[in-house]
Amino acid sequence: MLFFRNRHKDDNQLAPVLAFMETDIHSHLLPAIDDGVQETATAVHFIEQLHAMGIKKIITTPHVMMDRYPNSVQTLTGPYEQVSEALTAKNISIPFQFAAEYYMDEQFEALMQHPLLTLTGNLVLVEISFMAAPPQLHQWLFELQAGGYQPVLAHPERYAYLHADMDTYKQLKSQGCLLQVNLLSFTGYYGKHVQHMAEKLLDAQLVDLIGTDLHHEKHMQAIIAIGKNKKLRNLLEKYPFQNRQL
Ligand SMILES: [Fe+2]
Repeated sequence: MLFFRNRHKDDNQLAPVLAFMETDIHSHLLPAIDDGVQETATAVHFIEQLHAMGIKKIITTPHVMMDRYPNSVQTLTGPYEQVSEALTAKNISIPFQFAAEYYMDEQFEALMQHPLLTLTGNLVLVEISFMAAPPQLHQWLFELQAGGYQPVLAHPERYAYLHADMDTYKQLKSQGCLLQVNLLSFTGYYGKHVQHMAEKLLDAQLVDLIGTDLHHEKHMQAIIAIGKNKKLRNLLEKYPFQNRQL
């Protein structure tokens, strides 16, 4: 009990470092269905902390990766309801929804023939391999749009093979793909190269959206630490992220 009271007190003392985002559109907060949080209580605690840091709405995005995380509305609804009920029981009042982060591969190509989970409207969050660019990427993006969706590429700054050429990012944008950077990329959490690319994309005004991509406690601690990084807060607060429109 003492531990709980201390933790609660800590949450109230969190700085509103994420107020500039308003809506977090990328996280892994449904328990035990991907590599994100594994317990409902952890999900609730993270949501409380994000709320205390100024987030007004959360659209959580579990992985849909057919080989590893074969998720769908059917697998996600139960865990979503568990978290929602736990939030209500604790009187935590914040809009909380789920969509998905789709891994683009051959199986996704088949999946996109059926209705997809959207962030809002027709926005679909997608990710690609960290190892190599899928040769069919542009074709898949085209097909998604032909199906009436607008793709949002998750963490474009984290794909090292894209770093060599800024034109690739510009091409993705001109193809109608929105770009979503990860908040922690700016802290160096994923390495210096990722940080530099995130800064370059922001500088070039190529970024549309930002997300926490929160999976676990280590991420949360790194997010909390942004409270002490005034320079980064200033940089992010003045950028016109579109999150608040979602
Ligand atoms: Fe993610």
